[in-house]
Amino acid sequence: MDNPAEIQRWQEYQERTAGGAPRPLLQEALQYVQGKGSALDLGAGALNDASFLLAQRFGEVVAVDITPPFKKIDAGSGQFSYHQMPFSAYEFPAEQFDLISAQYSLPFDRQDFQKVWVAIYSSLKKGGIFVGQLFSTRDDWFGRPGMIFHSEAEVQSLVGKFEIVKTEEREYTEKEKRAKHWHFFDLILRKSLT
Ligand SMILES: C[S@@+](CC[C@H](N)C(=O)[O-])C[C@H]1O[C@@H](n2cnc3c(N)ncnc32)[C@H](O)[C@@H]1O
Repeated sequence: MDNPAEIQRWQEYQERTAGGAPRPLLQEALQYVQGKGSALDLGAGALNDASFLLAQRFGEVVAVDITPPFKKIDAGSGQFSYHQMPFSAYEFPAEQFDLISAQYSLPFDRQDFQKVWVAIYSSLKKGGIFVGQLFSTRDDWFGRPGMIFHSEAEVQSLVGKFEIVKTEEREYTEKEKRAKHWHFFDLILRKSLT
């Protein structure tokens, strides 16, 4: 996905979400993290979550996003790196991350989803946490080209290799003007220690 119109659309999204609070599911997941060595943010957007993770004293935060970095980040005593590339081009290091977060981002890459999902598992340390969402079949965007949606059975199959902390189906219609109908699964998953 290196389509300029697509990139511009994401940059507009990032302007809209700039300075927002860290995603609640990510905040929730932190209680399950066993170490704060390294965290990976896939689809890092306006870098709200990456800034939060650095403030939470992760030693290293790595961000991957198709767009240029939205802003400069003060890494404090940690290290921050930004990889401007599709998820599928990132060379996921083996058993590196204590936490991998993909907030509302993986469903936008249908073509490489399976490869990226496998890479996420491999790149977590044993005991590491994945947190993110998978969109499902009654979402308003169901069928959009380039996006991937999963039925409940497909979600259950995808999470099979992990220990489940949370798989919560969520479905609601926004009360805002665009009244979008959302249908997705919130996931917090742990890679087994064994
Ligand atoms: C809906 S936004 C979510 C951003 C942020 N995680 C948040 O919660 O606000 C999706 C993000 O994923 C990025 N993205 C979409 N497809 C991507 C891909 N194939 N590879 C890397 N980044 C991608 C977009 O540029 C955008 O920043």
